[in-house]
Amino acid sequence: MFSVQSKFLLTGRINRNIGRRLVLPAMDKFVIRGGNPLLGTVRISGAKNAALPAMAAALLTDEAVILENIPQVRDIETTRKLLLAMGAEVELGYGRAQHRTTICCRQLSAPEASYELVKTMRASTLVLGPLLARCGRARVSLPVGCAIGARPIDLHIQCLEKLGAKISQEHGYVEASAKRLKGAEIVFDKITVTGTEDLLMASTLAEGETVLENCAREPEVADLASLLNKMGARVEGAGSSTIRILGVDKLRGAKHRIIPDRIEAATFIIAGALTDGDLNVSGCEPSHLAALFEKLHAVGVKIKTLSDSVRVEGSRELKAADMITEEYPGFPTDLQAQYMALATQAEGTSVITENIFENRFMHALELVRMGGNIRIEGRRAVVRGKTTMSGAAVLASDLRASASLVLAALVAEGETIIDRVYHIDRGYENIEEKLRGVGAQIRRLGEILPKRH
Ligand code: UD1
Repeated sequence: MFSVQSKFLLTGRINRNIGRRLVLPAMDKFVIRGGNPLLGTVRISGAKNAALPAMAAALLTDEAVILENIPQVRDIETTRKLLLAMGAEVELGYGRAQHRTTICCRQLSAPEASYELVKTMRASTLVLGPLLARCGRARVSLPVGCAIGARPIDLHIQCLEKLGAKISQEHGYVEASAKRLKGAEIVFDKITVTGTEDLLMASTLAEGETVLENCAREPEVADLASLLNKMGARVEGAGSSTIRILGVDKLRGAKHRIIPDRIEAATFIIAGALTDGDLNVSGCEPSHLAALFEKLHAVGVKIKTLSDSVRVEGSRELKAADMITEEYPGFPTDLQAQYMALATQAEGTSVITENIFENRFMHALELVRMGGNIRIEGRRAVVRGKTTMSGAAVLASDLRASASLVLAALVAEGETIIDRVYHIDRGYENIEEKLRGVGAQIRRLGEILPKRH
């Protein structure tokens, strides 16, 4: 048993199966003293963006789906709540199995994703396709505005309609129904990651063959397809831009290990480079990080890769290099903010172009408050590097923006206080413990280390 301390928010309800609560820290500030090189080994968690669709995929069967390497982050907790509200049983592992989750959607009493949950996590819309396929109906709140851009779900809706769904929008909700979805040939107007995943899941139980063109090629899409095939689906081509799905009548339970989080790994690799450290980033998948390695090579960072780890050696002589975000296998938009922190310490001018989201430079203003020389010109940020960063009070505006402020703070003179780090808790597991383990001076304000068991 643990004692409930007022400084911790109890976000989990007692789990029916194992009587455990998930305790996440409620403190909302990091205090970081910069200047230490990061040295040693840090272990990477499972990919949040692969775990979220995998949890949604469990809706497609009435048997148990066991997922391993699930990261303990807030978005996973939100998805757990979403599934519980629909009538699913969700069991969290504990002790050595703390990263295992078993989901059983024997009966789904309410195929609905409420505004309250969708507003905190846009990826909740991933349940639309699976609910429609399994229950023949779904009611999902439209996502609210987002700090990094409009982020509509029009493509999910249009493509599900091509599979025969009847969809209306009322009172802020998408209402969808279909007796049974019917396979179709669908070309996405624009590449969308969760859109591809949503359609992929919906098509597994559709009648006949579905061909999806212009799909997202992210490793998380391929990971989802691998889980679906273990569940009895017939999916080919995931990870390429054309995916073929032959619909089946029923899916079964399965056990699946989630791939490592390439964005978390990359964030630590950049941290090692930036702090002139010598860091071994273990438990990752180097083949998912090729675009980052190419850029770091141009910047002057030494990288050595093994089958499941990366050793990064920083340098005091970083050189500026331009960067453009693109869909996978291009440079990920989810690393743009972290790359900008690196660019502030590189000699010369780096032009960073954000191609995926229209408003993803909120972190730039905060980096400027710390001493960065950054000018925003529409979708481009011009960073004049090698400025001395100094600790300041700054505000995190979204998940990856928070990570860039942490990186800048690690090289800043003096103390940085980052407010609203609940954003970082959405997607980075124990980031402060992991950073402390490799020599960073970081603490949560008023921290009492959470008890885990
Ligand atoms: C996913 C990732 C997110 C990442 C993003 C881009 C998850 C849970 N999240 O988000 O971390 O930053 O990919 O790599 O995997 N769009 C439309 N209409 C739609 C859907 C998307 O116009 O129906 C636009 C978006 O506004 C954006 C672009 O398409 O400009 C790409 O967005 P998308 O790939 O869908 O992002 P997400 O899947 O939400």
